[in-house]
Amino acid sequence: MRFAAIADIHGNHAALKAVLDDIAALGIRDVVNLGDCLSGPLEAAQTADLLLLLDPEAVATVRGNHDRYLLETLHTEMGSWESDAYGQLAPRHLQWLSRLQPSLVFRDDVFACHATPASDEVYWLERVSPEGHVHLRLLDEIEAMAAGIEQTLILCGHSHVPRAVQLSDGRLIVNPGSVGCPAYEDDHPVFHKVENGHAMASYAVLDRSDGAWAVQFRNLPYDHMAMSRLAASRGRSDWALALASGRV
Ligand SMILES: [Fe+2]
Repeated sequence: MRFAAIADIHGNHAALKAVLDDIAALGIRDVVNLGDCLSGPLEAAQTADLLLLLDPEAVATVRGNHDRYLLETLHTEMGSWESDAYGQLAPRHLQWLSRLQPSLVFRDDVFACHATPASDEVYWLERVSPEGHVHLRLLDEIEAMAAGIEQTLILCGHSHVPRAVQLSDGRLIVNPGSVGCPAYEDDHPVFHKVENGHAMASYAVLDRSDGAWAVQFRNLPYDHMAMSRLAASRGRSDWALALASGRV
């Protein structure tokens, strides 16, 4: 069994196109998309149209917190990530988002959610210290959130940090990193930064042979400066810097 895991596209159509082209070039058909598809100041509608074109038999998508905010928040009360995207979206895009589930089981063997099984707003594999440092979460805490999941491979996104964590019973949790947003600042639970230190589009290839999962993290160059300039033209200097450098 071989498939790709993508996450946190955040309206970056150019990065998504690069990733989908790479997946196709590898001869991979099946994709799990871990959500946060459209929010951000880039190309939400084009991104949605590209995702809507994908074969629903081959691609399974869960709903991210930012996907949910686009559906549940009044337009006048949306945060900047949502308000930038919402104005671009057509009813068909929102209808597609509304059909997404918060978690799913893929091909019987893989559990997928955006952040954790219980919340779409909590980093599963990272902890934010009171000083705002983001570091690997304690194994006991990670395993407590995996209670009851029978699948040997578990996928999550949300933190934009590519990472694989092995549980003591042999299960594996993988975050493929972010397709379209390599760095950001957040105030929840306290102010912190996530910086991957590069501007490439990230995703992962999962491959099981002889019963064990292998993980290949891939970082792809694409025309990230075009997206940086687009963010700058829309008054989003934070996104412009993140897309140019993977830093904020
Ligand atoms: Fe998220």
